Amino acid sequence: MRNICIFASGGGTNAEAIIQFFSDKPLVNVCLIVSSRKDAYVLKRAENHHIPSLVLDRSAFRETENLLETLKEHAVDLIVLAGFMWLVPTYLVAAYPNKIVNIHPALLPKYGGKGMYGSHVHEAVISAGEKKSGITIHYVNEHYDEGAIIVQATCEVTPEDTPESLAEKIHQLEHQHFPRVIEGVILR
Ligand code: GAR
Repeated sequence: MRNICIFASGGGTNAEAIIQFFSDKPLVNVCLIVSSRKDAYVLKRAENHHIPSLVLDRSAFRETENLLETLKEHAVDLIVLAGFMWLVPTYLVAAYPNKIVNIHPALLPKYGGKGMYGSHVHEAVISAGEKKSGITIHYVNEHYDEGAIIVQATCEVTPEDTPESLAEKIHQLEHQHFPRVIEGVILR
């Protein structure tokens, strides 16, 4: 049995897709949900699925290594960032080398870095007149969106697209690919 911990800051549709995907897979278990926001809907999803969760304190997350103890207690093998908006501190990257994966809603290295999250990304892609966008699933290092790329998938951006409609297309791609890629990484 391998254990996944999901870090998420928002609604958690990716977290939901991951939980559903692994719900009938005996080798992989979502053991913990960690959120940076106490009002994040992903915490409700955790409750619905009877998965333990915790809300991070920002300064404790950055300035102490207390979280490592909790991750150890839950025997976490892989950390999955699914809409997690904080930079991952160095101590965590060092403790989980190539064991933290992130999903980014654009084709990195374009439209990544600090401040590039959620709708900001889609607005930038549309303003630039891009004809395609997509998702990037990558390993995490201590810089925003810079770790080695595992998989990218693309979709078309049409002249009619708005940030909302593009977000919808991107979410569909994410839900389709992310759980399978996680399975590949964790069972490798
Ligand atoms: C996803 O589109 C994810 O790619 C993006 O946040 C969304 C979370 O949606 N992540 C980033 O922008 C990270 N820079 P969800 O809460 O419905 O899974």
